[in-house]
Amino acid sequence: MLRVPAYDLIAEEYIEFVLQADDPTTILGLATQSLIEMMGDVSGQVICDLGCGEGHLSRTCREFGAAVVIGVDISMLLLAAARRSGSSEIVYVCADGQNLEALKAETFDLVVSNLALMDMADLAKTYQAVYNVLKPGGGRFVFSITHPCFQAPQITIESNGRLITQYATEGQWFSEGIGIRAKVGAYHRTMATYINLLVETGFIIERVLEPTLPPDTYPEMSQNIQVEIPAIMVMKAAKQ
Ligand SMILES: C[S@@+](CC[C@H](N)C(=O)[O-])C[C@H]1O[C@@H](n2cnc3c(N)ncnc32)[C@H](O)[C@@H]1O
Repeated sequence: MLRVPAYDLIAEEYIEFVLQADDPTTILGLATQSLIEMMGDVSGQVICDLGCGEGHLSRTCREFGAAVVIGVDISMLLLAAARRSGSSEIVYVCADGQNLEALKAETFDLVVSNLALMDMADLAKTYQAVYNVLKPGGGRFVFSITHPCFQAPQITIESNGRLITQYATEGQWFSEGIGIRAKVGAYHRTMATYINLLVETGFIIERVLEPTLPPDTYPEMSQNIQVEIPAIMVMKAAKQ
């Protein structure tokens, strides 16, 4: 049976949601800003944006001087929006991130992925697919994910923190309420799974960020739990 990609069912809502990408007080904004910081100088690089959605990060990579940007996503509707709003120099490809055979092996200096790995069921296959398309001897994989420890199933957000009652059991879960993750769900994995599978694939982990909002920069957010508890995690790994 042919399944409609989850984000095709909420494409308009997601395109609206992405307007938050410039606001660092939102999870998407902080993830995007931290990922860009982790990417460093991308001028002249050949980049794949995995799970690119409507393409905001692909466009940023081009603006920052990347030589070639290829955005990959499984949602035809988000890719159509990306093609409408992006520079014609960005190539968008509809493919499953768990199998990137549509892309040439050992081609990319950098694969970036913003908040998309939790949407892919098979993390080992996805890491391997990324590894295959990166250039040997220094190709980098930079990705953001919702923080496995603090954005876990059965989470209760309380006024003074978060109550986590389920962490060790991996699998798909849906958050409560009306947000994006209540509709498309997410694959929960432990921190150990994210790290150990990277190492088993052959990556060398270079840097990890757990960004929070600096309280002095955002005094009005001082009661917000994102000040002390990271909602996201960003990792940089290199192909040997
Ligand atoms: C939370 S969105 C992030 C989109 C984009 N990176 C951003 O920053 O707005 C997750 C994206 O992953 C895509 N996706 C989900 N499963 C995928 C798969 N197996 N292969 C490729 N893309 C996938 C979705 O269609 C969606 O665009």
